[in-house]
Amino acid sequence: MERASFGSKLGIILATAGSAVGLGNIWRFPYLAGENGGAAFILVYLFSVAILGIPCLIAEFVIGRHGASNTARAYSKMANGKAWKWIGYMGVFTGFIITSYYAVVSGWCVKYMFAAGMGDLSGTPEEIKDYFSTFTSDAVSPIYWDVAILLLTFWIICGGVRGGIERMSKAMMPTLFVLLIVVVVAACTLPGAMKGVEFLVVPDFSQVTGGTFLAAMGQAFYSLSIGMGCICTYASYYSRQTNLLTSAVQISLVDTLVAVLAGFMIFPAAFSVGISADSGPSLVFITLPNVFNHAFASMPLLGIVVGVAFYGLLVLAALTSLISLVEVSTVFLAEECKLSRRKAAAIVTAGCIVMGVFCSLSLGAVPSFSLFGMSLFDLFDFTSGQILLPLCGFLTCIFLGWFAPMDIIRDQFTNWGTVSQKFFPVFKFLIRFVSPTAILLVFLRQLGIF
Ligand code: PHE
Repeated sequence: MERASFGSKLGIILATAGSAVGLGNIWRFPYLAGENGGAAFILVYLFSVAILGIPCLIAEFVIGRHGASNTARAYSKMANGKAWKWIGYMGVFTGFIITSYYAVVSGWCVKYMFAAGMGDLSGTPEEIKDYFSTFTSDAVSPIYWDVAILLLTFWIICGGVRGGIERMSKAMMPTLFVLLIVVVVAACTLPGAMKGVEFLVVPDFSQVTGGTFLAAMGQAFYSLSIGMGCICTYASYYSRQTNLLTSAVQISLVDTLVAVLAGFMIFPAAFSVGISADSGPSLVFITLPNVFNHAFASMPLLGIVVGVAFYGLLVLAALTSLISLVEVSTVFLAEECKLSRRKAAAIVTAGCIVMGVFCSLSLGAVPSFSLFGMSLFDLFDFTSGQILLPLCGFLTCIFLGWFAPMDIIRDQFTNWGTVSQKFFPVFKFLIRFVSPTAILLVFLRQLGIF
């Protein structure tokens, strides 16, 4: 049977960028930029993308396209059956763990999109905070939304690589962009918003420390969905003509652009009403509803439109990442257990629902769902994001840079000698020395070792 593939260059870029653009772009990047010198951070971030993000993306592209199969088998093929193949299995496992809690949060975004439309988020700051804690600690309601978004993902995955993933990415990514622009314009035209814009565009190099570089590298890594099967799996659908270097650059640029624009959505609005912006779930589900309420107090209808647009764009960002996450385990099961795509997707979806139920309940309804003093939700987030992703990324660099057959890598990088080899030595140098060292430093820092 011929293997599925993406149908166009645009489809490749939008689908892969869809995986990369996610909640991380919206709830973490702006905050990091704000904390670390505004425009100066953006420069440091671009540097991190260049020395770490792009080489790691290309590394996964090489393994994925060469393997033309699920992540585990793709690593096995590249490793010729040697122990390095376990990185692939670890990637699939990591993806599954991330999916479980990422789907829960994606479900919250869908709920909030409706809540914003119904005007349910217009209470006092206290009420908004209570609304969030009551909702997330409820035993049933968040699970409905988790199931809803997973079923939507299931339906898209069943549509196939071209008819489902590519077609939906081509529709959702431009829509996300339009919604983003709507909210940015609304935020930047608020009275006093320019102070927020200034905060982001005036570089303050005095805030840049060694820690800034590590934060930027950690963010680049997560934001580009590196270190688990997503990129590798999508690359297995790339055509022989896809230029891996240019694609990596384009995808990184789209991802960074969305992250920077998210900053222009959050800071101007927050500055305009004098509320300081934080990061993570509390920014998106508590602080921002407050900010929108204050900022659009005299124009409640516009406030509702902005609220729906904002949560709508979060849903799209989360959904395109979720699709790539579910796809990893789906093709793995389908190919390894010889199941149909639909059957494999159904099993993965059911598995994610079960895990999601545990994650969601651990946030309040059943506090005993915890381990090592963390709720299951936090534990999944911590082990996947802080430990497994960097570990897979690090091992991938070492494997590809030092142990994998260099002629295969060169062929992939240059499309069998048909595109320029000029940057190949640069890539080789980065993947051998720079990227693994960078990941190691980020890893040690995340574990609090320095
Ligand atoms: N890149 C996504 C984001 O920025 C998160 C993600 C990580 C998605 C790993 C898939 C795999 O939110």
